[in-house]
Amino acid sequence: DSEEINVQELIKTKIQEIPQKYVNGQEPAFPSEFSVPIIDMKNLFSSGEAKASELEKFHSACKEWGIFQLMNHGLDGSLLEKLRREIHEFYALPLEERLRYKIRAGEFEGYGQNLIQNSGDEKADWAERFYMITNPIRRRKPHLFPELPGSLRESLEGFITELQKVAKWLLGLIAEALEMDAKEIEEMFEDGMQSVRMNYYPPCPEPDKVIGLMPHSDGSGVTVLLQVNGVQGLQIKKDGLWMPVEFLPEALAVNLGDIVEVLSNGLYKSIEHRAAVNSEKERISIAMFFNPNFEANVGPSPALLANQKPIFKTMSMEEYVSGFFSRRLQGKFLDSMRI
Ligand code: SIN
Ligand code: FE2
Repeated sequence: DSEEINVQELIKTKIQEIPQKYVNGQEPAFPSEFSVPIIDMKNLFSSGEAKASELEKFHSACKEWGIFQLMNHGLDGSLLEKLRREIHEFYALPLEERLRYKIRAGEFEGYGQNLIQNSGDEKADWAERFYMITNPIRRRKPHLFPELPGSLRESLEGFITELQKVAKWLLGLIAEALEMDAKEIEEMFEDGMQSVRMNYYPPCPEPDKVIGLMPHSDGSGVTVLLQVNGVQGLQIKKDGLWMPVEFLPEALAVNLGDIVEVLSNGLYKSIEHRAAVNSEKERISIAMFFNPNFEANVGPSPALLANQKPIFKTMSMEEYVSGFFSRRLQGKFLDSMRI
């Protein structure tokens, strides 16, 4: 039945008509005159006026958008190149090879399609994905990360290490912009739960009828998204309307997840987004999710509650994670945390 659920194999059969389970009436996206803010990491490392004004830009990007493009992020270009090539190669492996990592019954990690509950007219994403928890290392599933093709595993490991630095710094910046205690956020994310999702969206003869990834907000603290093969497709819901995001080629996209919205007591926004597919080209992306550690609590920062009422409940990270994964990846889980 794996053949049936695999969309990459499906298009090889030169289908004339899209199977009904992929056809869903999504609202169209419209290009906007505004574009996603660009944050320059160089300026944030400077001092004086340049730093202050970039921090202000960062603060308003987090409030108004919940997503920005990070430039001058300092990631090693050759590492990114290698990683991009290897993710591409992974998705070009024969299906049997990819299926070695397939999602096991009752689990959500692994390779396959996003879980669809086969209840009636549930719709499926026009995509394959490989999702796994990468940190803390003891949470790695023995049949996933350690069993990846060696060179992909090495590049991913390198990418994780480099991105951890960027994420730590971004979280510190969030604390600074929110005037929180830097220690609070540092302790919360120390040895945090991290995961990765590699997305593969095959071309679709009728791209407007399907969706690559259903609308959702991320359950993470912050998510870093890298476009793998230069094909655009991310869309965000801004002021009630869907708009496409055009990435600069060198940029990392950073979006805030539900945990930062909760932490900021609603001041920062975890943006709702989805992925569209292309009529001719495949599209590949990789997202890394940075979360608090399993000992942390998820709730509004005490520093912010001195002069405002909490609008979200506080729960343990374990409780948060189990709630998040028991829902379908759609809409905002966050709403269930409102007081
Ligand atoms: C994601 O939401 O994690 C992926 C979106 C994308 O592929 O652009
Ligand atoms: Fe996402």
